[in-house]
Amino acid sequence: MDIKLVLENATKEIQECSSQTSLQDIKVAYLGKKGKITELLKSLKTLSIEEKKSKGAEINLIKEEVELFIKQKLSEIKIKEINSKLSSESIDITFPIPNSAEAKVHPISRTFDEVISIFGSMGYQIAEGPDIETDFYNFTALNIPEHHPAREMQDTFYLDHKDDNNLPLVLRTHTSPVQIRTMINQKPPFKIIAPGRTYRCDSDATHSPMFHQVEGLFINESANMSALKGTLIQFCKQFFEIQNLRVRFRPSYFPFTEPSAEMDIAYSIKNNQLQIGEGDKWLEILGCGMVNPIVLDNCNVDSSKYQGFAFGMGLDRITMLKHGLTDIRSFFSGNLNWTLKNGFGLGDY
Ligand code: DAH
Repeated sequence: MDIKLVLENATKEIQECSSQTSLQDIKVAYLGKKGKITELLKSLKTLSIEEKKSKGAEINLIKEEVELFIKQKLSEIKIKEINSKLSSESIDITFPIPNSAEAKVHPISRTFDEVISIFGSMGYQIAEGPDIETDFYNFTALNIPEHHPAREMQDTFYLDHKDDNNLPLVLRTHTSPVQIRTMINQKPPFKIIAPGRTYRCDSDATHSPMFHQVEGLFINESANMSALKGTLIQFCKQFFEIQNLRVRFRPSYFPFTEPSAEMDIAYSIKNNQLQIGEGDKWLEILGCGMVNPIVLDNCNVDSSKYQGFAFGMGLDRITMLKHGLTDIRSFFSGNLNWTLKNGFGLGDY
C-alpha cells in the first residue's frame, strides 16, 4: 500500500468529516487495531532491517500527522457543536407572555419584603455586606478566633483566595459580619437589619448550602434585654399574623453575645397540620442576645458608653413555617410549576 496515498486519503476524510462520531470512525479506520496505518506498521515485519528503519520512520511520521489532524478536527467540531447549541437554545426574551401566565413573587422574596417592612416600621435601616467575606469579619471580630470550637458550629466554604492577613476568604456563614461592617464604618447609635444570602456546606430537607438570614443590631446607651424581647415578640406577631403567640426565650451560647438566648414559638399539630401560636411543643426560630462588649471593642465602639442587642434569624425557616412548606430545597429548584403554586400574585398584596 502506498504510504503517501494513505496520508492523502486520511487527510481528505478528516477534512470532510463534520461530526464527532464519524471522526471516531475515521480514527478507528486508520489508527485502530486493524486500521490502515496500524497494518502498514505490521507489514514492516517482513522487511529487511535497513528497510524497516526508513519505512518505519516514514510511517510513524504519517501516524503522528494523522493523530494531530484528528485532534485539531475534534476541537473544531466541538466548538461548532457548542455554537450551534447556543444559537438554537437561546431564549427570546422579547417573546410576549401568554395572557394566562401570571407572574408570581417567590415566597422568599415575599418574606424579604415583609421582614423589611415590619422592622422598617420600627425604625430599623437596611445594611448590606458582601457574600464573600474575610476571616476577620465573618469570625475574628465576632469573637470567634482561629481554632475556636465555635467555628466548627458552622460548616464553612473556604475559597482558594487569601485575604490581606493571608487567611482564606470565606462565603459568609451568617449575616453577623454586617454588624461588624456597620459598627466599623459608621458612628453609634446603630439600628439596622441586614437581610441576605448565607452559605454553609450542608444539604437536606431543612438545610440548603445557600440560605437566607436576617441580622438585627440595635446599639445605643441604654438598649436592654427587655427591649430585645419586645422587639422580637412584636416582629413574630406581625410576621405570622397571630396576636396570641406564645413564645419563650431559652439561655444559649453565641461568642458574639453575652448573655445569649434562643427564641422558640409554640405550636401544635392539628389534623396533620402544623399550627403556630398555641400548643405544648416548641420551635426554635432565632438566636439573639446582648452584644458582647468584646465585639464592641473590636469595632472601636466605646463599650463603657454603648450597649445593645443583636439577633439572627433564618428566613427560609420562618417562610416554611408560615406557609406550611416542608422541603427547603424546593425554594431553589427553579421549578416554574412550584413557583406558580406557592408564589404570590398581585392579589396577595
Ligand atoms: N449568627 C448566628 C448564626 O448564624 C445567629 C445569631 C445568633 C445572630 C445570635 C445574632 C445573635 O446576632 O445575637 O447561627
